[in-house]
Amino acid sequence: MQKVVEIKNLNFVYPDGKKALYDIDMAIYKGESVGIIGPNGAGKTTLLLHLNGVLRGKGTVKVLGMEVNDGNLRQIRSKVGLVFQDPDDQLFCPTVFDDVAFGPLNLRLPEDVVRSRVKEALEKVGLSGFERRSPHHLSFGEKKRISLATVLSMHPEVLVLDEPTSNLDPRARREQINLLKEIRITKIIAGHDLEMIFGLCGRIIILCGGRIVADGQTKEIIGDRELLEANGLEVPFRRD
Ligand SMILES: Nc1ncnc2c1ncn2[C@@H]1O[C@H](COP(=O)(O)OP(=O)(O)O)[C@@H](O)[C@H]1O
Ligand SMILES: [Mg+2]
Repeated sequence: MQKVVEIKNLNFVYPDGKKALYDIDMAIYKGESVGIIGPNGAGKTTLLLHLNGVLRGKGTVKVLGMEVNDGNLRQIRSKVGLVFQDPDDQLFCPTVFDDVAFGPLNLRLPEDVVRSRVKEALEKVGLSGFERRSPHHLSFGEKKRISLATVLSMHPEVLVLDEPTSNLDPRARREQINLLKEIRITKIIAGHDLEMIFGLCGRIIILCGGRIVADGQTKEIIGDRELLEANGLEVPFRRD
């Protein structure tokens, strides 16, 4: 099976001296959906930001066989679609069209291709016809979906999502989960909405204090209440 992500011995320290990742080793294969869970401050976001070179630690990070380095950041970013937790970090253009077209335009695709990429991405997130709207005037749920569209328009090979259901009301959350279920590319999803992660991911990695403390099939992890609680995670659907 093709390795989509391969991380070896990754360590990362923020400029203020805070060490956020310790000795991370992991491999993710084509077609997998992998959930990264752990309490606040575990290092989930820090880890995701290494997948397209926003952050660079010590150790190796390979994506689709390419080592992330200054020479191939453009190429890596065209293959790895990273959706930030906060849509306001993703959307910065005056119109939805401009935001969703930004990546394809950067790839220097012809104008008609860009237009069809935008149309297709908006269809996928259920927001057809939103091209001329201003992202700033949309609901939070719509902004989250437009953020997803801004990376889908790139036709990425890996989708990396940070807390895709955070701050959504129950209905928008359910729609977001259903939408993600439909997208059949390799997915890496970080979050502490365990019900969402367990529903979408076949494999789970638990991070705690910047270290990987477990990596296994979802059905094994979900059944190990002691492991989850020891790492500050609430077991969903608690029956007692
Ligand atoms: N820009 C930063 N500068 C210094 N420390 C940071 C920065 N961003 C995050 N951290 C720290 O790194 C650790 C991991 O944070 P983060 O990756 O955001 O965790 P998570 O996404 O699991 O909540 C936390 O202790 C956090 O306070
Ligand atoms: Mg985070």
